[in-house]
Amino acid sequence: MALAKPQPSTSAAAAAEAPAPLHVAIVMDGNGRWAKRRGLPRTLGHRAGVESLKKTVASAADLNIRWLTVFGFSTENWSRPASEVAELMALPKRYFEAELGRLERDGVRVRIIGRREGLSQELVDICAEAEARTAANDRFFLQIAFNYGGQADIADAAQRIARDAVAGRISPDAVNEGLFASYLGTAGVPAPDLIVRPSGEQRLSNFMLWEAAYAEFVFQDVLWPDYGPEHLKAAIDEFHTRERRYGGAVADDVLAAG
Ligand code: FPP
Repeated sequence: MALAKPQPSTSAAAAAEAPAPLHVAIVMDGNGRWAKRRGLPRTLGHRAGVESLKKTVASAADLNIRWLTVFGFSTENWSRPASEVAELMALPKRYFEAELGRLERDGVRVRIIGRREGLSQELVDICAEAEARTAANDRFFLQIAFNYGGQADIADAAQRIARDAVAGRISPDAVNEGLFASYLGTAGVPAPDLIVRPSGEQRLSNFMLWEAAYAEFVFQDVLWPDYGPEHLKAAIDEFHTRERRYGGAVADDVLAAG
């Protein structure tokens, strides 16, 4: 894939299509089951998951998505066996060693959200390098949630707001949804339009709790290492069947109500 600047398609059929969701977020689930079905260690499932991530970044860009957020490691994943945690901690290095040059060249800006506490200095440095080397890019935005939890992010934001209020930098009266959002790890990033979870599980698992307020959800029966462009396309097709009302009413119903 060479990431092209998102362009409206010129084909007549595509011209009639609705625009792609701006921001898609994915819970990359099912690596363990994928490995188990093959009699392989779970670690190999996670490595296969990295390959799926590479393919999905390319297919998301091809589908004119601008922001892709993926859930790489949750604040709850520390409870897994130490050997699996060690493998999960090694995945960003594996991914960026293979892909950072390409991401940089293709205009992808990388951002890693989640707590840095608990990560090795090497991993913190890898995240910082990925962000720094891609900081000037703006064709596509890849946000990786790592050591991330929606509740932890909200709690951390509340703590920073409390500190700023106590220090007199903000007034308690200024705290509203917009200000709160500006203290989250996702500050400045549009909320996801679509949250996708493969593997058949139908839950959010502490992912983007604040940001998911008006997201559409698509759950797919495919394990993450088997996830391909056709699955992302299917999720977007499903997204286009949804009517988003953001708490409002359907336009026709408003007219009917007089
Ligand atoms: C959940 O599947 C998946 C994870 C905890 C890790 C997901 C991470 C990747 C796919 C690669 C991440 C890459 C980077 C760059 C961070 P699971 O192990 O819970 O699967 P199971 O439910 O089948 O056991």
